[in-house]
Amino acid sequence: MTDLAAAWTAFETAAREDGETRIIDHFAAEPDRLERLVVEASGLRLDLSKQPWSKAGLAAALDLARAAGVEAARERLFAGAAVNVTENRAALHMALRAPDGAGFEAVGKPVSAQVEAVRDRMRAFAEAVRSGERRGATGQAFRTIVHIGIGGSDLGPRLVWRALKPLEPRIELRFVGNVDPADIAQALAGLDAATTLVVVVSKTFTTQETMANATAARAWLRAFLGEAGDGHLAAASTNLEACAAFGIPAERVFGFEDWVGGRYSVMSAVGLSCAVALGWDVFAALQAGAAAMDDHFRTAPLAANAPALLALAHLFNRNGLGRPVRVVEPYAERLGLLASYLQQLEMESNGKRVTLSGAPVAHATATAVFGNAGTNDQHAFFQMLHQGTDVIPVDFVAVAQAAEGPAPQQAILLANAIAQAQALMTGSPNAAEPHRHFPGDRPSSFILIDRLTPETLGALIALYEHKVFVEGVLWDINSFDQWGVELGKTLATKVLAELEGGPAGAHDPSTAALIERLKG
Ligand code: F6P
Repeated sequence: MTDLAAAWTAFETAAREDGETRIIDHFAAEPDRLERLVVEASGLRLDLSKQPWSKAGLAAALDLARAAGVEAARERLFAGAAVNVTENRAALHMALRAPDGAGFEAVGKPVSAQVEAVRDRMRAFAEAVRSGERRGATGQAFRTIVHIGIGGSDLGPRLVWRALKPLEPRIELRFVGNVDPADIAQALAGLDAATTLVVVVSKTFTTQETMANATAARAWLRAFLGEAGDGHLAAASTNLEACAAFGIPAERVFGFEDWVGGRYSVMSAVGLSCAVALGWDVFAALQAGAAAMDDHFRTAPLAANAPALLALAHLFNRNGLGRPVRVVEPYAERLGLLASYLQQLEMESNGKRVTLSGAPVAHATATAVFGNAGTNDQHAFFQMLHQGTDVIPVDFVAVAQAAEGPAPQQAILLANAIAQAQALMTGSPNAAEPHRHFPGDRPSSFILIDRLTPETLGALIALYEHKVFVEGVLWDINSFDQWGVELGKTLATKVLAELEGGPAGAHDPSTAALIERLKG
């Protein structure tokens, strides 16, 4: 048996054994439990003491991380090695937010100078739009940005905007992701084209949905402003030629490189609309917060490393105790899109069934993730968390001080977050009335943020990015490709041709009947 296989066996055995003990009982047995399992990093306080591991279980998890080579993999990641093996690319999102002069290299090629040049251009553009120095075709200042993109070109900016938007923004930001015409119709409703800037965001600039929406937005601008409407278009992409072909000149195109994965791209030019609508200082602070977490991840020993420990707690539940679902529940309205963001980050990154070398994986990989915002979900699906037949671990995220200032509701919000985590772990026995029995022993992580600032949001995003990376190393999978989305795209192109009157293709009877029913 290899060292790694032995470490997996020891880990699984330790988890099974720990599963026999109630989480609450670990506290009595381990006086230093809280001290060991609360990690502070970059403004976040991460409490992993309500996870099912004992001291020995955690030690087995850390041994597994060492045996799997997490530390060496982390070095390769930061060194810009081709960790995305199926596409022979680095995954260097850390370079996007590193301070000037960082000297990152992607597969041996220096990249930091170029990153800094794009950042300078983004800053100049953001400041010119915000100050009114850059105006629309009729000479009016821009009041609204319509951000068009999908997946990684949408979820990150949406998360950031909802988290940090001022109550009365000087520049409003709207998003269009879905190709459903209802989405763009709603985004454009009530807008004045003369004061609207459209930012088309697509790494490839070929994504069907985004190009359809961008074409519709361009037509909308032209309908009101004529050809001059094209001057209201800007883009973020790696595909500068396609941007030019679409009619967006280089001066309004903000580039990034293929070593930025879509779901890791929020701090690249993909964040342009946030940089404009929130202001450059806010965007720079977001980057600084992420860079602080990058430093923590890179330098902290595994036993005190927030992303690594969060990943190991996840594996303890997933692989040690066979729990295939996880809830992410921010008790912060402003973080209400966190679960939606993490669905792509975690499930597109780690929803894989073969190893780096293409062999079937030996261990179950990504869990399904869901959640919205507390307290709303307490009145929706929390019943199942407390009394359902499956144990579903929860990541609680709470913010101590509300951005809107002190309010009586804030204490209610925090009390509920704390109480839910407590109730899940402790339960409440009631032998006489089974319907009122709470089994408890349901694990959670608790991330406490003092204030939701651009810095702490950046740190939170980077925390989860690196958590996903560590999990990928442990599962021996490529967290940076997404071949699983391709088949559906290819088939959609064929089906579309048939819906538009093309010759019928070969399909299963169910598919053929749907096409027949919907053909124009
Ligand atoms: O859904 C697949 C995907 O390639 C994601 O990985 C990506 O974030 C999204 O589509 C959008 O891609 P693009 O930024 O190239 O439009």
